[in-house]
Amino acid sequence: MSNYHIKGLEEYFQVYRKSVNQPEQFWGEIAEENFLWRKRWDKVLKWDFEKPEIKWFEGAQLNITENCLDRHLYASADKTAIIFEPNDPLEPAQHITYQELQERVCKFSNVLQDQGIKRGDRVCIYLSMIPELAIAMLACARVGAVHSVVFAGFSSTAIRSRINDANCKMVITSDGSYRGNKTIDLKGIVDVALEDTPSIETVLVVKRIKSDIHMRPNRDKWLEPLMEEASTTFTPEIMNAEDPLFVLYTSGSTGQPKGMLHTTAGYMVYAAYTFKNVFQYNQPDVYWCSADVGWITGHSYIIYGPLLNGATTLLFEGVPNFPDYSRFWDVIDKHKVNQFYTAPTAIRALAKENLSYVENHDLSSLKVLGTVGEPINEEAWHWYNDNIGKNNCPVVDTWFQTENGGIMISPIPFATPTIPTFATLPLPGIQPALMDENGNELLGNQVSGRLCIRFPWPGMARTIYGDHKRFKDTYFSTFKNMYFTGDGALRDATGYYRITGRVDDVIIVSGHNLGTAPIEDVINEHPAVAESAIVGFPHDIKGNSLYGFVILKESGEQRDPQNLRKEINQLISERIGPIAKMEKIQFTNGLPKTRSGKIMRRILRKIAAGEINSLGDSSTLLNPEVVQEIIDTRL
Ligand code: WT7
Repeated sequence: MSNYHIKGLEEYFQVYRKSVNQPEQFWGEIAEENFLWRKRWDKVLKWDFEKPEIKWFEGAQLNITENCLDRHLYASADKTAIIFEPNDPLEPAQHITYQELQERVCKFSNVLQDQGIKRGDRVCIYLSMIPELAIAMLACARVGAVHSVVFAGFSSTAIRSRINDANCKMVITSDGSYRGNKTIDLKGIVDVALEDTPSIETVLVVKRIKSDIHMRPNRDKWLEPLMEEASTTFTPEIMNAEDPLFVLYTSGSTGQPKGMLHTTAGYMVYAAYTFKNVFQYNQPDVYWCSADVGWITGHSYIIYGPLLNGATTLLFEGVPNFPDYSRFWDVIDKHKVNQFYTAPTAIRALAKENLSYVENHDLSSLKVLGTVGEPINEEAWHWYNDNIGKNNCPVVDTWFQTENGGIMISPIPFATPTIPTFATLPLPGIQPALMDENGNELLGNQVSGRLCIRFPWPGMARTIYGDHKRFKDTYFSTFKNMYFTGDGALRDATGYYRITGRVDDVIIVSGHNLGTAPIEDVINEHPAVAESAIVGFPHDIKGNSLYGFVILKESGEQRDPQNLRKEINQLISERIGPIAKMEKIQFTNGLPKTRSGKIMRRILRKIAAGEINSLGDSSTLLNPEVVQEIIDTRL
């Protein structure tokens, strides 16, 4: 039996039991047998969910890039590490070997060092899905700097707040990016962000679209000439197990985005372990995750997990509908992809199109299909299973969060029998618990409640950058001695988990986490707006869409409502990004409020979803009369 690679259901049960009964021994063995350490740990785990303080492999020393790159050079220097598939299918794909990737990471590390980046410094990376994105992240890790990747669809304001939150010293971006038939002026967006970011000293610019951009003297530097001169060797900085590896922001139900801080050794072990088992990766498979590296899925399952396992990982610059809706299937056919990992929202969008987009492609290389990011509905699951997997590839519905570092609940292909819409069973080391609203644990099967995790796992975030109190309040204060996920879940008669969705004010739109409060803050900034509330309502493709209820000031009531809607959405686009725009905006004279002044979102959610006959109890409302008005004028 191997703890590292589970191959059957019996084995899963055995390994799982061991992971719960002897967690330190379990993770200690995995760490010992599968990674390169410069110094062994003194203690596998120290933890306290009250403080909270979590330490894995304390005393150990390592550099994660030696594990991602150098150690593979003995046996597989010429193996492809990254297949780069450009946005334009006519531009040739690139096959970057482990040797070449290692050299480019070393060169980039030298550039970072020459530009003054040292161990512990924070570096913001704002790049689209090009090889330099992977190389930049790994170079940061090699010099001991902390990367903060900001998704290249975010606005100037969003970049600025993330740079300032972590006091980044440098931004790495490009002259622009390709996205379908559009180009995006990344450097222009960064320039606006940097109007108010005192900590930034240098901007490194990758040449991608060869556009004519403004380079600010002293601050902005083209990467290419610096790379040409740099040496191909760089001695990695030896890091402590709990040194930070990266910060990645996720939105919360209130205020500022949260910079989730992940540390080195635990994250490494967990990303590698979960990748191996959830995708059953075997050499020489070609693996493709279509997420963006700007999300945790991309960090763990495009970059770190695959490279730690010496895998071939495909990096796709484009979008599913360019040049047409067959692009995903083209890429799978062209590169003979064996494992494919995508999001329910992409599946739903592609399932709406004619099946002929799928049919004239050879998808027989596929062995495992995965989904992540939001609950997958039964119809989408079947479409994926039947038309892409040809009923012959296990579909793994993987549940996890930015905070978790890696997949937490998921079938193990060829071991766990799957059921549509169920993420099924916890991976080894993960101890879920369901809680009721009064803080009591729901024991046994056939129960549903709030999903918590009762024991630490190596990949969990250690804090929110610069705000440990918020870390404690958000995740460790709702239920005593539990990590609270913010999700609801049910456990069925066999013990399988089904994630039912958020129980807080976070709405998942096309797989993107959107907190209601930060969006409402932006809406309320519009001079014509007095107050607002947004809720999610079901959408065929996006899963959820945003529905806004907006109370106008008197000045706003004189305005053309259509223009106002455009302006409000424009403001959201600028401040947060186009993904946070509202699908519907209803102007109203009031919002249903409790006596304590809290907006009763439950009622607004029902109205937005059109379920006006089941609004539920409204007896505690201060202003029940507004409910009828809102129903009468709903869109
Ligand atoms: C939230 C975390 C983890 C990568 C992308 C999202 C929802 C995620 C599933 C799933 C049902 C899911 C949860 C979770 N979610 N995977 N398989 N089934 N819901 O990361 O942006 O941090 O969002 O995504 O609500 O809390 P994230």
